Amino acid sequence: MRVLVTGGFGFIGSNFVRLLLRERPDWSVVNVDLCTYAGNPANLEDLAGDPRHVFVRGDVASAEDVRGVLEAPVDAIVHFAAESHVDRSILSAEPFVRTNVLGTMVLLDAARERSGGCRFVHVSTDEVYGSLAPGAPAFTETAALAPTSPYAASKAAADHLALAYARTYGLDVVVTRCCNNYGPFQFPEKLVPLMVTNAIEGRELPVYGDGSQVRDWIHVEDHCFGVLAALERGRAGEIYNFGGRAERANLDIVRRIVALVGASPTLVTHVTDRPAHDRRYAVDPGKAEAALGWRPSRGFEDGLAETVRWYVDHEPWWRAVKDGSYRAFYHAWYEERTA
Ligand code: DAU
Repeated sequence: MRVLVTGGFGFIGSNFVRLLLRERPDWSVVNVDLCTYAGNPANLEDLAGDPRHVFVRGDVASAEDVRGVLEAPVDAIVHFAAESHVDRSILSAEPFVRTNVLGTMVLLDAARERSGGCRFVHVSTDEVYGSLAPGAPAFTETAALAPTSPYAASKAAADHLALAYARTYGLDVVVTRCCNNYGPFQFPEKLVPLMVTNAIEGRELPVYGDGSQVRDWIHVEDHCFGVLAALERGRAGEIYNFGGRAERANLDIVRRIVALVGASPTLVTHVTDRPAHDRRYAVDPGKAEAALGWRPSRGFEDGLAETVRWYVDHEPWWRAVKDGSYRAFYHAWYEERTA
């Protein structure tokens, strides 16, 4: 199998590429990444020189870039590339619509133009369902979409497009919707790596509002196993929710991180809340468990402790991201490989 992975230098994409080449050693990956702020080649430095991983710098929203990449045939497309940070989408929706909506459409069209089409796994998020009332049952795949942030709205639009292409053109599309991920190589703008690295640095830990918002958490590897299962065993036109059955309030997570790092609890600071901050997310993973034979393997407490240790052990990685010097690393890396 030759798989086109979009956004393979991002957090979830890079974990997926590594897992795929470990679990399916005779497969190969073409990794298309635009290397925006979140696409960091250092995330796959351990694959340098591995002929099974080919990187092509490209923009999924550019039909020319995508056509160029697909000149060599692929058996499947796994689409991770996305603008993913809610706070950034509140500042400006434009890059979110461009990458998440237009980029998905360009890729779907490219898949459609390939004779016989090819399997297309569209990786999405539980945020498309919107906020869940306290005590309400977790969202299933048939719940109506009610996104509240520009980010979530752009992902919902992309999901609709992907499913519409399955119905209209018979494209072999599978949509996956996952809850909040944590694990190695996550960009330190997200809750877990931001709090871990700030705690190590002795900086303030900015909790939005009262910190009682609830998210369902899953280790990134468990999510990646789910995407692989969807790629291999998902039914065309179907949606699969990946939930971790690990709902936690933000403040509880931050306090746990403080304890794991051994930082001072006085670092915890309540700051102005995010506009339209969703109170609770949770998805029911029952369908994926039954139909794909998939199940998360890591408990949240163990997974979080392991993740905190990873950031403690990989200080050069996150310090370079936080001080911006990882961009210079990228340029050196890219020039070396394209010389
Ligand atoms: O649910 C899946 C989604 O999870 C993904 O689709 C998104 O791409 C991903 O960013 C994430 O969205 P969230 O908004 O839930 O993640 P974030 O890490 O930004 O925030 C998690 C929670 O922590 C949220 O309730 C806001 C809060 N928070 C976040 C940050 C960065 C804080 O209280 N303080 C912070 O500094």
